[in-house]
Amino acid sequence: MAQQNSNIVWHETTITKENRQELKGHKSAILWFTGLSGSGKSTLANAVEKRLYEDGLSSYVLDGDNVRHGLNKGLGFSDEDRKENIRRIGEVAKLFVDAGVLTLTAFISPFKEDRDGVRNIVESGEFIEVYVKCSLEECENRDPKGLYKKARNGEIPEFTGISSPYEEPENPELIIESDKLTIEQSVDAVINYLKEKSILK
Ligand code: ADX
Repeated sequence: MAQQNSNIVWHETTITKENRQELKGHKSAILWFTGLSGSGKSTLANAVEKRLYEDGLSSYVLDGDNVRHGLNKGLGFSDEDRKENIRRIGEVAKLFVDAGVLTLTAFISPFKEDRDGVRNIVESGEFIEVYVKCSLEECENRDPKGLYKKARNGEIPEFTGISSPYEEPENPELIIESDKLTIEQSVDAVINYLKEKSILK
């Protein structure tokens, strides 16, 4: 990473995060969905967003496959590239929180250190780690993109769960067992958590 230029000085904005949250009528935070490929992160993030949208709330989904088409085009799946992928997304998600948006991210984010890195750049309570727990066996059975099959055949190197590690969250705010719950039950669990924490009314 390039070195920080000492001639760049932080500038406080006139309108603050609190102003924007007040305007929207709700708090902002990051719902950080993590889990294996095929565990249901994107499906769940999108289903939660639909519920938020129907309630008139301001939200946005940042999704691994999509972000890798643009902002993170050029990053691969080495440990180093995944680290940079998550670091950038963390910074983007922080900007969205500052903009007053309920931000949902759906990245494998396999490394604990990288997820904790994001937790540490936002305020306490603004990072909600949601472990979308699903057995490798089930993810492989689902194989929605046919990638596990390719990984098993040796066509995709460093594939998470097969030839690259996934570090399970140790203390996530929420665990959603996507191979046991329906989508509706999973969405309810996330929404209930947001209400409990007074992020939603
Ligand atoms: S992360 O590890 O850096 O967090 P990210 O969520 O952005 O990964 O991208 C994961 C998606 O990329 C997977 O759902 C899958 O569709 C695709 N993919 C392609 N190659 C790999 C690989 N080697 N390991 C995991 N996912 C891969």
